[in-house]
Amino acid sequence: MARQQVVIVKDLKTELSDFLASLTFNKLFILTDENTKRACLPLLQDIPAIKEATLITVEAGDTHKDIEHLAHIWMRLSTEGASRDSLLINLGGGMITDMGGFAGATFKRGIRTINIPTTLMASVDAAVGGKTGINFNGLKNEIGSFYPPLCVFIDCGFLQTLDADNILSGYAEMIKHALISSEKVLAPLLQFDLNTLFSNVHTAEQLSTLNSQLSTLVSESVAVKENIVEQDPKEKGIRKALNFGHTIGHAFESLSFTRQRPILHGHASESLSSAQRPILHGHASESLSSTQRPILHGHASESLSSAQHPILHGHAVAAGMICELYLSHKTCGFPSEKLSRILYYIKEYYPPFAYDCKDYERLYEYMTHDKKNEGGIINFTLLANIGDVRINQEVSKEKILESLDFYRESFGF
Ligand SMILES: NC(=O)c1ccc[n+]([C@@H]2O[C@H](COP(=O)([O-])OP(=O)(O)OC[C@H]3O[C@@H](n4cnc5c(N)ncnc54)[C@H](O)[C@@H]3O)[C@@H](O)[C@H]2O)c1
Repeated sequence: MARQQVVIVKDLKTELSDFLASLTFNKLFILTDENTKRACLPLLQDIPAIKEATLITVEAGDTHKDIEHLAHIWMRLSTEGASRDSLLINLGGGMITDMGGFAGATFKRGIRTINIPTTLMASVDAAVGGKTGINFNGLKNEIGSFYPPLCVFIDCGFLQTLDADNILSGYAEMIKHALISSEKVLAPLLQFDLNTLFSNVHTAEQLSTLNSQLSTLVSESVAVKENIVEQDPKEKGIRKALNFGHTIGHAFESLSFTRQRPILHGHASESLSSAQRPILHGHASESLSSTQRPILHGHASESLSSAQHPILHGHAVAAGMICELYLSHKTCGFPSEKLSRILYYIKEYYPPFAYDCKDYERLYEYMTHDKKNEGGIINFTLLANIGDVRINQEVSKEKILESLDFYRESFGF
């Protein structure tokens, strides 16, 4: 897999213009969702090549990362005359970089792509590392490829229009990167003043300082991921470190999806019925009702348990990390004072994900379907200490259920 270039930009317009000028392409396309078209595209409009580009827009949200919307992108590329020499810019969160990346990987056997992530999740995780894909047949990321973009341009300026829930979602992945990396990466993350960032009562000077600090933290976080992906691009070994918190986190996510509607994660038998399937952009009369929309957007939620929406990925990972730090403590000797420190932080910022013991068997069942499992054994990535990663860890069912107890007791429900 070719190494992608990841640039933390200071001046996106100049750096993107220079990069585009260094390439030859016959046609430029930009993929956005409806929110990034409104909030992010205007920041690029002054670039002459962008002004001339063909815009493709899809509905926002992970349930639209599907075959219908992918086909819409292929169709637009085809009818607008894209060729092997065309270039596709994916401007959006992980939903857009995943689906646009896969459209790029497959159209005419592969056209070049550039990712411009606009969420924190995409900046530190989804847009970096070359995994692309769509959800299919009720299964999350079921169809996809490893197809790195030519370049990833990360500009934290885009985050100014992103809501607190989505900032926290990406931040959980940054905490994960720090936990699998070093105390040096972790300490400034835990000290960063998220409350002021969310408060809306900061001065312009404070905001500028916070943005510059966040940019440094993002850069360090991306470096952790890049370093791991470079060693193991196809996830045969050490890349599994990036799954820390995700075995139980995915189970929480699945539970949350099933509570709302049939699932998008892990179980073919529970696939979406055609009536629940989202439709192609442009068929407004057939659009999803707000209760069907799976995305949490636009507000910091008080409690995800009571929300009508499923939990955001990063919030599920934050809860999953607490359980998996408990397992790390019990089975690999992860220090208890460090577990308490992370728990304190997660409790301060992330709403509890509520479940009770009647959900345990179902949660366990979800874990048995995790993609990382081999030979029917649930494979955890655990930590013996910060930065001391143990992949392929087998843990007894009893301990796993104990970790679910630990989370509930810690959050007092
Ligand atoms: N490929 C990978 O390695 C990888 C890793 C992690 C996650 N993912 C995928 O990423 C997706 C989740 O990514 P996400 O959390 O970025 O979600 P997302 O792309 O759905 O974005 C979340 C919401 O924020 C909106 N938005 C995006 N940028 C905005 C901005 N600057 N201002 C205002 N609103 C904005 C979007 O329209 C959407 O409503 C999932 O599909 C997940 O499977 C992939």
